[in-house]
Amino acid sequence: MKKPYRIINPGYSHQAKQFIRAHGNYLYDSDDRPFIDMVMGAGSLILGHSHNAVVEKIKRQSEKSSLFLQNNPNVQALSNKVSQLIPSELTNHIYCNTGSEATQRAIRLARAATGKTHIASFQGGWHGMNEWTLLDDGGRFGQSIVRADNGIPSVALEYSLLLPYNDDAVWEIIDDNATNLAAIIIEPIQGSNPQPNISPFLSKLTEYCRKLGILVIYDEIITGFRVAPGGAADLMDLKPDIVTYGKVLGGGLPLGLVAFNNQVFVNTFADKSKQILTGGTFSANPISAAAGLATLDQLTPQTYTKIKHLTDFFLTKLNQAFQEHKIKFNADGSGSINRIYFTDQKIKNRKQRDSFEISAEKQTSFRTVMLQQGVLWPTNGIICMPASQNEKLLTEVIEKIIYAAKAIEA
Ligand SMILES: Cc1ncc(COP(=O)(O)O)c(C=O)c1O
Repeated sequence: MKKPYRIINPGYSHQAKQFIRAHGNYLYDSDDRPFIDMVMGAGSLILGHSHNAVVEKIKRQSEKSSLFLQNNPNVQALSNKVSQLIPSELTNHIYCNTGSEATQRAIRLARAATGKTHIASFQGGWHGMNEWTLLDDGGRFGQSIVRADNGIPSVALEYSLLLPYNDDAVWEIIDDNATNLAAIIIEPIQGSNPQPNISPFLSKLTEYCRKLGILVIYDEIITGFRVAPGGAADLMDLKPDIVTYGKVLGGGLPLGLVAFNNQVFVNTFADKSKQILTGGTFSANPISAAAGLATLDQLTPQTYTKIKHLTDFFLTKLNQAFQEHKIKFNADGSGSINRIYFTDQKIKNRKQRDSFEISAEKQTSFRTVMLQQGVLWPTNGIICMPASQNEKLLTEVIEKIIYAAKAIEA
């Protein structure tokens, strides 16, 4: 007899669509009906599903062993590769399993390095499930996280500060809190609001914090190895103290990385009186490292050129279609990270997005109509273009977007 149970995880309800396999740009349900996947493992699958090179590496490593803890060569090979790509100051690497773990460890390092307590993050940002940055859900779950009764102790919230994004009001707030602020964590390109010209804001933030003795953590869990081989910091020539990576780095398997500069190392691990904790059963596991390395090895200059071309094609054609059909939406983004804004207003941050866009219910209906047409659209709206896409399929997706946009307005 089947015993009752409940799986508590987004996407796991008895009503939710189940997919049983995936390949390239498609997911397949139990009737083998194909669905175009615009989610791509929340941006992890930059090569599309089941890329041969990645699958082969995973197979070969699992035949050797799935887990041995000491000094496995895959992790060193991965760090060799990563160090050639990311900013050269980031010479210290801590491996973990997810983006949330990476941001949690980055925050611990920042506190240990500075001896300060508070952590600031930006409105519209998302840094995973760690307790220190949950004043806002960055639009990932469509709800405000700040609640007295949701299991996050008030002390975590007291030590957290939420800053206005891409807004000059931020400088005074930073000044006022500088004595307590260990670090400011920021997605250099926000998934909820991927601004195309954010580099001057980031540059000023990095300089400003350095003068005030506040560490800057870039959360490159989406942008890393995606917007450029060395991520956003490399692309915009910016110098954060600590950077977190995940998603693309693991090639579809769980992997997180915290990379940091030598000054942070001197003030943490090199200071024997501090005894900083890191490590864990699955940290630096060889299968994830093999998948990650296989993925990074595929990311040639030609791959980035192709992804850029596909992104430009998608945004241009989609915006033309919105205009032609008099639909008051626009599509925009930064590098291969983009989204539909359900408004025709240009926005500069998440706060404006929330005030201009159509209702959350209508946006849910949009996703439902997309699914009915055989397209899985991300709940958080973030489109991370994979190298597996092509113009023909994107043209098909655009037609379906226009149909869905008209359907929800009807
Ligand atoms: C910018 C950013 N940081 C952190 C995370 C958390 O990563 P994970 O879901 O692997 O814990 C995510 C996940 O979506 C993310 O987009």
